[in-house]
Amino acid sequence: MADYLDRIGAGKVLISKEPLSYDWTPSELVGRKDELSELASMFFGIENHNVSCRAVVTGNVGSGKTVLTRRFCMDIASKLEGKRKFSIAHVNCRNHPSASQVLQQIALSLDSGHPERGFSSGEVIQSVRRNLRTHDKHLLLILDEVDVLVRRDNSDLIYKLLRIDEDKEGEGSISLIMVSQEDSLFTLFEKAIKSRLGENNILQMSPYVASDLEGIASQRYEASCRPGSVSKEVLEKIGAFAEDSGGDARMAIEILEGAIRHAEMAGRGEVIEADVIPSSIRSASVEPNQVDGLNLHQKLVLLGICRRLKKTEEVSSGDARKLYELVCEENSESPRGYTTFWKYMKHLESEGLIVSRSSSSNQGRGRTQYITMPNSVPAVIGRRIEKGLLER
Ligand SMILES: Nc1ncnc2c1ncn2[C@@H]1O[C@H](COP(=O)(O)OP(=O)(O)O)[C@@H](O)[C@H]1O
Ligand SMILES: [Mg+2]
Repeated sequence: MADYLDRIGAGKVLISKEPLSYDWTPSELVGRKDELSELASMFFGIENHNVSCRAVVTGNVGSGKTVLTRRFCMDIASKLEGKRKFSIAHVNCRNHPSASQVLQQIALSLDSGHPERGFSSGEVIQSVRRNLRTHDKHLLLILDEVDVLVRRDNSDLIYKLLRIDEDKEGEGSISLIMVSQEDSLFTLFEKAIKSRLGENNILQMSPYVASDLEGIASQRYEASCRPGSVSKEVLEKIGAFAEDSGGDARMAIEILEGAIRHAEMAGRGEVIEADVIPSSIRSASVEPNQVDGLNLHQKLVLLGICRRLKKTEEVSSGDARKLYELVCEENSESPRGYTTFWKYMKHLESEGLIVSRSSSSNQGRGRTQYITMPNSVPAVIGRRIEKGLLER
């Protein structure tokens, strides 16, 4: 009776779900030592009571901007405990897009009873300042997704926050870290703001590569699962898939979570490679080991296509032919003739490895087709073929 419910909370793999949530802040970041050092260099002197610092952090979705700035502020606060008192406020401007909402969040972070309305922005800023000075605290303020605020309300509030101590007694009230996906954030600001921020205080985060993403997945696995339940091979595969999605750390965590769920649903205490499915194509995916059954030249044709599709959406059959010839040259093989090439393309298509469509605009110019790989991740398939070729 109701046996199907037995699997809920069976927890054959999972012990704690919390580390798989996006908001979980690990005590150590994977592969961001240089970025943390760079940020630290922008906060030189922060232990001194009259010092305020500023930084701008940019990077793609999932490059770890939010977690890095949070970790950084928490690390400063604990490192300087006893020397200076810090308060940390993290405001996501996408969730609180107007200047008054952002200010309200800042005020609330210092005083949960701060009244919701009835004050001008100037008054709220001064009450924030008063609060900080009374408690001898320094505010580390992270304005996340700040471009949303700037676009909506221009940079008025930022200007006021940067000038919070000007013409007042005492300085060093607020340090400001602004975070945005846009590299061009800086250009949105007026000159007065730019000069106060300093053009050198920009940290650009690069997308993660497979080994970082594997490390991130590994860290989450260790924090949430039974020891030994997820192998190195599984984590590697997750890293490769996530790299292909653009180096988004969120993807690595999501794919790991999906794989754990898959294993638990199958009643296993171990996650296997087949549980790892690239997130956007969970339904119609091709298993990378499917390529093992292809003959050598079918693999070479597919490898050429994979290489191009790592970078673009589709590849023309003419280009696929040229890429195949290149791959042949690399592997000291002579390319098969056109008829055989087409036969191999048809075979790859019947296996679901590629999908082709004829372009209507190209009618009359022979058999030009456009090839995509919607059922798999080209980089992963390509890597598998390359590995096989090396082992030949
Ligand atoms: N270097 C890292 N080490 C550990 N976890 C990371 C790292 N970078 C990102 N993450 C995790 O990946 C997810 C996405 O990162 P996040 O900081 O939200 O990216 P962004 O703000 O750039 O979109 C979060 O759950 C975050 O904790
Ligand atoms: Mg973020």
